[in-house]
Amino acid sequence: MAVKEDNVEQGISAMISREAELTPVKIVEELDKYIIGQQAAKRSVAVAIRNRWRRLQLDQQLQKEVGPKNILMIGPTGVGKTEIARRLAQMVKAPFIKVEATKYTEIGYHGRDVDAIIRDLLELSIRMVRGEYAEKIKDQVDHQVEERLIDSLLPGRHGEAAEDDEARQRHERTRGKLREQLRAGGLEDKLVEVVVEEKAIPMGVMTPMGFDQMDEEFQGMFEKLLPSRTQTKKIPLHEARKIIRAQQLEAMLDREKVTLEAIRRTENTGLVFIDEIDKVCGPESAHGPDVSRQGVQRDLLPIVEGCAVTTRHGTVRTDHILFIGAGAFSRSKPSDLMPELQGRFPIRVELKELSKADFVRILQEPENALTKQQKALLATEGVDIDFKPKAIDAMALIAYQVNQSAQNIGARRLYTIMEKLLEEVSFDAPKFKGKKIVIDEKYVKSHLEELAKDEDLSKFIL
Ligand SMILES: Nc1ncnc2c1ncn2[C@@H]1O[C@H](COP(=O)(O)OP(=O)(O)OP(=O)(O)O)[C@@H](O)[C@H]1O
Ligand SMILES: [Mg+2]
Repeated sequence: MAVKEDNVEQGISAMISREAELTPVKIVEELDKYIIGQQAAKRSVAVAIRNRWRRLQLDQQLQKEVGPKNILMIGPTGVGKTEIARRLAQMVKAPFIKVEATKYTEIGYHGRDVDAIIRDLLELSIRMVRGEYAEKIKDQVDHQVEERLIDSLLPGRHGEAAEDDEARQRHERTRGKLREQLRAGGLEDKLVEVVVEEKAIPMGVMTPMGFDQMDEEFQGMFEKLLPSRTQTKKIPLHEARKIIRAQQLEAMLDREKVTLEAIRRTENTGLVFIDEIDKVCGPESAHGPDVSRQGVQRDLLPIVEGCAVTTRHGTVRTDHILFIGAGAFSRSKPSDLMPELQGRFPIRVELKELSKADFVRILQEPENALTKQQKALLATEGVDIDFKPKAIDAMALIAYQVNQSAQNIGARRLYTIMEKLLEEVSFDAPKFKGKKIVIDEKYVKSHLEELAKDEDLSKFIL
């Protein structure tokens, strides 16, 4: 595939070509492996992801004009909204972050401000690009690490100190032998000296949140101010290798290039999933925490509309970042969102409530289906669990009925049902070692039916 020159310069070509095979059909197929039904939602996200790739095929001028088509996923609880996002994240090779709208508060209130979303996204992107570069220069790094390990085993660097040719040759021969031994793994426990750099974090300036939850900007500033001490340590070679490899990688990575590429990627291919977006909406009211809810919306708006966010690595523009919002909208409606924000999520998809038939499929079809999980878990104890189709049918029915009579928590109900069903087997698994346990309709009914019928009881247990 031909990649545009500009993109090569921007360094995102590798990513684009990797996403090239991710057609909408392919994305939906991939999602189908884990999520039953919800085709409308799957199709929408697939198209949105593909559109970003399409945009990057255009020339620069046109690229600027094409904005992302943000999506709002609406549906009751436990029907697959977050699951779609999670699976999407694993699939796309782009920087992706999932946040909960409720975790953020208006600037100035307790909690994180929404700019942190973009800063986190960039951090992810940096880690991704770093990983790729590290992979690219791995052989070079490994070579250097080996040389340095030999250096530390045999002082007198490269025989430079030797006066004559013969001494130098002898030195080289010794190095050669050491290299062989090293490669054969015979020197792993030998003690060698390494120089390590340590940053002392003075206790007195710890914040109540702890160092790593400190605001990122502040933390960066802080790190620079801290005195670093170097220290020589004598440690086993296999440990030294890890330290030296990290140091060598740090020295060989072009940090500026990595950062620049990470920023470009974030700007052009970043994907932000905002969960629980319905929880920050609701009519503007003058009292209590609602004020800051509207505030979160107001703060989100510029980011979703496109603005520049300052990070410690540089400025990130958000104009082309794709946002997917999700929420149950049971107490509020999308039209309760601020009008400007509504306009920024032009694509609406509804996820449907799951039926009994869906439950039957969810229990057995997805690659991570509950029955498969339980079977595999108990197999580790030497117990062979066999779920009969009728049993699965009965479980699905009970899940459906309890959802109707108690609270409807969607597919999550299946988890509680399954746990309850296998409680005994799970506890006594070692006793059943080498046995086969057949879970049939009768088993399900005898273990769950009474519970399911008693509305009060099922509220607590199922
Ligand atoms: N359609 C589905 N197919 C397969 N599994 C599903 C489906 N819907 C939900 N699940 C399972 O149920 C669990 C809960 O689903 P998920 O987290 O996607 O709910 P949600 O729609 O985000 O709900 P909420 O509004 O409460 O956040 C997931 O772990 C997932 O495995
Ligand atoms: Mg969710």
